[in-house]
Amino acid sequence: MHTAQAGIFALGTSSHVYLEFDLVDEKQCRDLAAAAAAIREPRTTTGGVNFVIGFRPELWQKIVPEQAPTGIEGFNKDIEGVEGFVMPATQYDALVWMSGSAYDVVFDMARTMIRDLAGKATLKEETSSWAYRHDRDLTGFVDGSENPTLLDAPADALLPDGVPGAAGSVLLLQKWKHRTAEWETLPVAKQELVMGRTKTESIELENKPADSHVARTDQDKFGNIFRRNMPYGNVDNHGTVFVGFSSEQQRLTKMLESMAGLVDGTRDALTRYTQPLTGAYYFVPSVESLRELR
Ligand code: HEM
Repeated sequence: MHTAQAGIFALGTSSHVYLEFDLVDEKQCRDLAAAAAAIREPRTTTGGVNFVIGFRPELWQKIVPEQAPTGIEGFNKDIEGVEGFVMPATQYDALVWMSGSAYDVVFDMARTMIRDLAGKATLKEETSSWAYRHDRDLTGFVDGSENPTLLDAPADALLPDGVPGAAGSVLLLQKWKHRTAEWETLPVAKQELVMGRTKTESIELENKPADSHVARTDQDKFGNIFRRNMPYGNVDNHGTVFVGFSSEQQRLTKMLESMAGLVDGTRDALTRYTQPLTGAYYFVPSVESLRELR
């Protein structure tokens, strides 16, 4: 029996940071994994920080081949959709996602982490994110309504027991910049057609358009995933960090292809108001696999 990294399911935190690293030297991949695995969260009862640690799938395969799932690949090339729409590939070697109740604890831990990895890994991308109006993304819509419950989510997000990489998960991390001015010129009824749900109550539209976001990512078609999206950015320049976990990489890749119009030629209407800036897959191993690296 393996155990998943607890941070995947630690809902309700309002401050987050995503740190993406590249190895200084490929041969140091085990050192990097050991340093990341040795991170010690503050163990106070009221002020802790959650961690999720992930690795470029090919790198994890190299570090511990016996505990690596087969067939999982990094986001190694851009997805070229219809009408010139592109989802860029910005794959790095490792990810540390920290979350907590306030930004100061996350900030301090992130600085410690970067210092501990000095000489082994270089910070390539840092994004801070924060909760907006409890559970809304910066389009103003509730984000996560169709997420599985915490009782069902492990079955959707984690590799099952008995397979290499058990209790690990495939994470897609993508930073999407919103075209807020264009989005806000749309009347709410039009925004609802783009999303496929109502804005205030988050009720799925009965006759949702084929290009609506929820039609393009329909979990009845592609399989369930577990999302932990968060708003990021400043007043002038902001968007959504898409954070999606799945037991099968294919569910995520197919959803991206569907959004880009590569499944049946229909592009997700939401991609006309949001633009992906980054894209990476990380394998998030079980706690047992991480512990063995210390
Ligand atoms: C700018 C980026 C994105 C924003 C703002 C966004 C926002 C939303 C919102 C508001 C909903 C409706 C409520 C809900 O069920 O959560 C939704 C549904 C969903 N989104 Fe996204 N999303 C984004 C990107 C993505 C990406 C990249 C994927 C997949 C790789 C994805 C997968 C899904 C799924 C699976 C659903 C539920 C579909 C269903 O009803 O079965 N989203 N999203």
